[in-house]
Amino acid sequence: MTAPTPASPTTDTVIEVDNVTTAFDGHVIHRHLNLTVYRDEVVALIGGSGSGKTTLLRLLLGLEVPQAGSVKIFGHPLGACSACDLEHVRYRWGVLFQSGALFSALTVFDNIALPLRELKSVPPDMVKPLVLLKLAQVGLKPEDALKRPAELSGGMVKRVSLARALILDPQLLFLDEPTAGLDPDSAKQFVKLLRKLRQELALTVVMVTHDVDTLFAVVDRVAVLADQRIIACGPLPEVARLQHPFVRNFFLGHLERCAEEDVKRFRLSLDDTSDEGGVPALLREDAL
Ligand SMILES: Nc1ncnc2c1ncn2[C@@H]1O[C@H](COP(=O)(O)OP(=O)(O)OP(=O)(O)O)[C@@H](O)[C@H]1O
Ligand SMILES: [Mg+2]
Repeated sequence: MTAPTPASPTTDTVIEVDNVTTAFDGHVIHRHLNLTVYRDEVVALIGGSGSGKTTLLRLLLGLEVPQAGSVKIFGHPLGACSACDLEHVRYRWGVLFQSGALFSALTVFDNIALPLRELKSVPPDMVKPLVLLKLAQVGLKPEDALKRPAELSGGMVKRVSLARALILDPQLLFLDEPTAGLDPDSAKQFVKLLRKLRQELALTVVMVTHDVDTLFAVVDRVAVLADQRIIACGPLPEVARLQHPFVRNFFLGHLERCAEEDVKRFRLSLDDTSDEGGVPALLREDAL
């Protein structure tokens, strides 16, 4: 996969964080923070523990309000949006929370169907085929739909959460530590799935991650949150060479992999023909 050329900022800007300051009880988390994300790119947010990554994600979701500055998503200023506009914007993004945040009492099917049913955007008889389609896209079997979250492996929980995040066909996807808690093999499979979906669905993705392999596999630009702001946002080979204590530590032992050619080679090695989701020719609706 080749990284998309950053699109024209005027027409294809999906996220604009402008001069944002965030504080809790007088404790400043972000100061004059700026970040722009363009259509179709995958941006990873890295930073030390407590540096404010999740808080930034929550600002982008409208779940926190900055003390100063503005956040625009698809050109809509979140703070100044009417309730109606905000609802409209929210349906254009999907979120995968770190914990998965599935409802334990609901089956996989009902968890994935929830946004469709709440929104009532499709006729009831379309819910089942759409849920089965998303299940297939994330590499799960139709029979998995009948399971409850407690019966799933960690990797399956992530996939189900991803299916739910994708059920409304969002243009923008937020992922908080999508591979955290997975064993190395499950993490690798999950990242391959993200690569595939990104190609199939033309998604813009913002993900918080501390996983270097995820950066190598799928990310176009890396944004570094340190010293209360985004100190750099650029391609991995450039960012990895920054002389900042956090960045040096983060890429310690990985620098020799960070040359552009090595990143390309690593990505090609992931593009094999294994069974990572995708839409099968025949959806087995009868399995439910
Ligand atoms: N609702 C809140 N009220 C008060 N303080 C908060 C709140 N949310 C976050 N914080 C504080 O803001 C800081 C940044 O937290 P945040 O969760 O954004 O960090 P993070 O970069 O995601 O860290 P980690 O890598 O450990 O997940 C922390 O000091 C945290 O205690
Ligand atoms: Mg966090």
